[in-house]
Amino acid sequence: MSSDQLNLFNLDEPSLSPGINDLIPTDVKIPIPAGTYPSMVELAQHCNQCHRCGLGDSRTHAVVGRGNLNAKIMIVGEAPGQNEDETGLPFVGRSGQLLDKILESVRLDTEKDVYICNIIKCRPPNNRVPSAKETAACKPYIFEQIRLVNPKIILLTGATAVKGLIGDKGSMTSIRGQWIEWEGRLCMPIFHPSYLLRNPSRERGAPKWQMWQDIQAVRAKYDEIRLE
Ligand code: URA
Repeated sequence: MSSDQLNLFNLDEPSLSPGINDLIPTDVKIPIPAGTYPSMVELAQHCNQCHRCGLGDSRTHAVVGRGNLNAKIMIVGEAPGQNEDETGLPFVGRSGQLLDKILESVRLDTEKDVYICNIIKCRPPNNRVPSAKETAACKPYIFEQIRLVNPKIILLTGATAVKGLIGDKGSMTSIRGQWIEWEGRLCMPIFHPSYLLRNPSRERGAPKWQMWQDIQAVRAKYDEIRLE
């Protein structure tokens, strides 16, 4: 037995392998530095132990992401709903089914071409909009996810995702479909699928029609980037 192992028996010495919770600052103001997570596995472990905000008390699962960990396109939603909290996977309810259809319409494969995640990893009670404090507490995780996946394109679905990542840029109707450069990446605000579920018209100029324009622009940019 090495002396290091023997030291584990000494109750007066701090443990050599601290519990995972000891590594996550519960104070929102304490940052989690870039480079903390060697991979999404460790990040997901931390998210499932996290209590940087109150949402950790009521979650079933932290919802980290799904799709290709090396995708060139990242899609960022708002927060998990009930289905996502139960399964631990983002966008698996009605909004998610519509999102998958939108991607399919331009032949984007959800397993191959994109990585899907949310600004907030835990479900807010009654699906309320996450507070600024909750968003701030969760921010290091999305930053680390972006660093690890390293996408060229980030699609921000809805105002909470836009505000949470790149700051307030105006109303969704005025900024949707625009490319916004942020930290060397191309971001595009797009409507949240739940907004499209509430506005089902496909007439020219309606939100669904606008989404069709936006997703075609995304497909064109993706093709351009892949050729570079
Ligand atoms: N809405 C979101 O923004 N994210 C999900 O994961 C599900 C619904």
